[in-house]
Amino acid sequence: MQLTTLLPVFLSTLGLANAATLARPPPWQVSDWSIVSSPGGTVYGFDIQASASANSPAFKTHCDGIVPNATACDDKNVTATVTQDKHPLWHVEVSHAWYLFPKGESEQTYWATGEKNVTRLQSNFTITPDHFYGVA
Ligand SMILES: *[C@@H]1O[C@H](CO)[C@@H](O)[C@H](O)[C@H]1NC(C)=O
Ligand SMILES: *[C@@H]1O[C@H](CO)[C@@H](O)[C@H](O)[C@H]1NC(C)=O
Ligand SMILES: *[C@@H]1O[C@H](CO)[C@@H](O)[C@H](O)[C@H]1NC(C)=O
Ligand SMILES: *[C@@H]1O[C@H](CO)[C@@H](O)[C@H](O)[C@H]1NC(C)=O
Repeated sequence: MQLTTLLPVFLSTLGLANAATLARPPPWQVSDWSIVSSPGGTVYGFDIQASASANSPAFKTHCDGIVPNATACDDKNVTATVTQDKHPLWHVEVSHAWYLFPKGESEQTYWATGEKNVTRLQSNFTITPDHFYGVA
């Protein structure tokens, strides 16, 4: 489901009226990014944290994995996928899932995802979550 269908769900279940907040959550801060290639594969690692917004909970976790597979971070609600882009760029995609249990309604799952292209040497950068999904 896309944002257009998600928005009414948020508005009705959370009583939120600030669509601008939903459209522009705070950027996620990545630090200690590293990526190392060896004959066995290319391994990355980074820390990532997000403040809570009106529509999404905060998180802070460490991710590491092997290019190009999607891998859950230490916080399993967060998943990272790093793939090779045009040299010297790496494409970093992160998705965050969370769940709401509104009284008298079935569980609702939400995701936010964002991506960024970075070089090996950028140790800190931000990822702006820009895609939202919800299943009510
Ligand atoms: C990267 O971010 C971390 C944590 O926010 C901070 O401690 C560190 O000084 C930053 N490093 C650079 C090079 O900006
Ligand atoms: C990536 O995922 C594929 C499909 O699940 C798997 O066959 C492969 O072994 C994985 N590669 C690594 C490096 O984990
Ligand atoms: C993962 O999401 C669930 C539901 O939103 C939450 O209760 C849980 O605390 C989250 N896990 C972490 C490690 O934050
Ligand atoms: C990253 O690079 C890919 C391919 O070059 C491009 O499609 C994508 O829009 C870029 N992403 C960002 C956030 O710039």
